[in-house]
Amino acid sequence: MTARIIDGKAVAATLRAGLAERVKSLGFAPGLRVVRVGDDPASGVYVRNKDRAAQQAGFDSATIQLPEDTTEAALLAVVRQLNEDPAVDGILVQLPLPAHIRADAVIQAVDPAKDVDGFHAINAGKLAIGQPALTPCTPKGVMHLLAAAGASLRGARAVVLGRSNIVGKPMAALLLAADATVTVVHSRTQNLATECRRADILVAAVGRPELVRGDWIEEGATVIDVGINRLPNGRLVGDVAFDEAVQHAGAITPVPGGVGPMTIACLLENTLEAAIARRG
Ligand code: GUN
Repeated sequence: MTARIIDGKAVAATLRAGLAERVKSLGFAPGLRVVRVGDDPASGVYVRNKDRAAQQAGFDSATIQLPEDTTEAALLAVVRQLNEDPAVDGILVQLPLPAHIRADAVIQAVDPAKDVDGFHAINAGKLAIGQPALTPCTPKGVMHLLAAAGASLRGARAVVLGRSNIVGKPMAALLLAADATVTVVHSRTQNLATECRRADILVAAVGRPELVRGDWIEEGATVIDVGINRLPNGRLVGDVAFDEAVQHAGAITPVPGGVGPMTIACLLENTLEAAIARRG
């Protein structure tokens, strides 16, 4: 079998076009502020892409760039000011933050109603108990890709590889809410390959280049690769060995061009949802 390729760029473009239509009919531009501390080059590309996509879809988007030596207190003051600003619907503090700033203190300072990353304990808790919440963008994007791929989730065996607060845990909650039978496996799991082989749907989010081999994948399974890893030779690869996996999967996302483009589209979707909830 050769897998169908799930085109994240195309799915993201369709989602963004739909959001742009909804923004037009809203009558105001939802406000998104991205706060960036320091100048990590990888996050620079990400932040610029976010701003461009937001502006193209009719959002009022801006990046607040702060110097690397910004204190935690000064960053918290910026967050509080954005919390108070009625024109701001969504706040994203770009991670990672410099080591002298406690990321969790900053995340928990964001108004949960403006927390378009879905990282605040209030939103994580609501997601866990099945209440409407702002949901982390990457797992939300994965759910859109699964829908676009026509994967049926009810009763399906879903295996999530990775247990981060940003991807693995919210991913498991979303799949569970969609009636999948969910297993979370991670770096300390015994017999990882055997566990993955049980999956109808496999979501890999461990940040280990090409960890998942072709023979870890059940014939016909749907494979979503969240990993973006740069090899020493400069090549960008996922957490799945694509060339092997494509021989076994029924459908699979490429890296790049799979999950990556969805994350930004979902950030805009969250910002629109936050804007409608606040002043729709
Ligand atoms: N850095 C890399 N991905 C993300 C993300 O989704 N949100 C934030 N805030 N920072 C990130």
